Amino acid sequence: MAAAAVYLPRVIAPAVARRSSIAPALIAAPCRSSIGTPSAHCLAGNLCRFSSTAPSPPPVVEIDGRSYSTDTWFNTPTNVLAAASRRLHLQEDHPIAITRQIIESRFPSAEFRSVNSLHPVVTTFQNFDSLGFPPDHPGRARSDTYYVNKDTLLRTHTSAHELETFRANASPGFLLSADVYRRDEVDRTHYPVFHQMEGARVWDRRTQADEKGDLTATILRDLAALPEHGVAVEDPNPPFHDGTNPRQVPQHAASEVEAMGRHLKRSLELMVVEVFSRAKKAKQLAVAAVGTEAETVAADEPLRMRWVEAFFPFTSPSWELEVLYEGDWLEVLGCGITKQPILDAAGVPSQMAWAFGIGLDRIAMLLFKITDIRLFWSTDERFLSQFRGVSADLDKLRLFVPFSKYPACYKDVSFWLDGGDGVAGTVHNNDVMEVIRSVAGDTVEDVQLTDTFTHPKTGRQSLCYRINYRSLEKTLTNAVTNRLHSDVKDMLVRRLGVEIR
Ligand code: PHE
Repeated sequence: MAAAAVYLPRVIAPAVARRSSIAPALIAAPCRSSIGTPSAHCLAGNLCRFSSTAPSPPPVVEIDGRSYSTDTWFNTPTNVLAAASRRLHLQEDHPIAITRQIIESRFPSAEFRSVNSLHPVVTTFQNFDSLGFPPDHPGRARSDTYYVNKDTLLRTHTSAHELETFRANASPGFLLSADVYRRDEVDRTHYPVFHQMEGARVWDRRTQADEKGDLTATILRDLAALPEHGVAVEDPNPPFHDGTNPRQVPQHAASEVEAMGRHLKRSLELMVVEVFSRAKKAKQLAVAAVGTEAETVAADEPLRMRWVEAFFPFTSPSWELEVLYEGDWLEVLGCGITKQPILDAAGVPSQMAWAFGIGLDRIAMLLFKITDIRLFWSTDERFLSQFRGVSADLDKLRLFVPFSKYPACYKDVSFWLDGGDGVAGTVHNNDVMEVIRSVAGDTVEDVQLTDTFTHPKTGRQSLCYRINYRSLEKTLTNAVTNRLHSDVKDMLVRRLGVEIR
């Protein structure tokens, strides 16, 4: 059984490696994908110095044109606040917007209304309570989420808008794309801001059920109207798993859940076939231009998909869809049958729904073969010019051609957690990441915890991090990297109260 998920993992990495702990460097990453996992990032003890030593927040902050009062929960750095007005998913010819358009193109627009400009600041009710997250859920931690104040945060997923969109009840389905925010690692596949699309499809018992009040026949009729895709799909799962991944009793009949699961799966398979066929075509074109024979064979690999069981607080049963991509199974999306209390609270208790969530950045990285997530935020013409005209004609999609790879510059920083005052302390991995990113911005490519050490006599604990400074746009001089690294060290001392070794 797969671990209970809070969110879909964001790392573009083989699903197998993440599940079976083969790749420690990867699973050292987000602890938030598993409910109940102790905070793997809280590296020692339980006294977090970050909150006590962070500078006092500005009383009011402006986020994408609106003002908010802060309190001691505020933990959002300026670079993240600034990103809130970028709206990359709406920027014509941007890879994130193109990816959104490709996904949208696979859902009939008469049924699925697009909702693409919702403000990123939401309440804890919207982001967590409305979806059934328990009060002690790890996803609520300040170490993982950007708060504006105790009750207000930058949404961590597009599911935050499910309740209000179900309530609006404006169409049988919706596709909702937006920027989302999470505190996390620093590496080439993680950025504090990324994009998701939430999709849902509802059926209404009042108007679509048979004389017994059952929706099965209507859903099966809608399923029969969906096209076939002819791609191999492994799905060894039963329609639901009483006990571990149950249907919702008494509201949902077994036949309804089975029919709705099939409609959901076929709809999402069709969308994924569209995305990966476009990725394959772009790759074939690139290989045809300059490729080797081995690359030609790889580009012709048939598409394969598989369904695995998953767990989300707001759907039951739930699944994830994985795609075989260059020899590895990749998790592409999470989905399931919407928990009935959400529809009840939305004032549409006669409706039954499926919902899914997909990360747009990771799909865009695959589609265009963009290997560094920071590039999405670049305003460099050498990046943006490569996608001109694609929004208007999706067939113009081509792989990204890296314009340059500037040299990496690795620097280590080691520090004592006790800050030299002898009082045992701890820091959260995400706090270290945040401090480094807030000083070095997009010139930091990757940060790894490389060593933890406990002094045998004194018991003092220290951590060592390796930072890779590499600009996407120019070669960094030694003087510049040294200054950045020295500023990073100063800020670690000031913000986290540690002592540099
Ligand atoms: N919100 C989930 C995430 O962030 C994805 C999801 C959406 C899962 C809708 C099920 C239904 O990973």
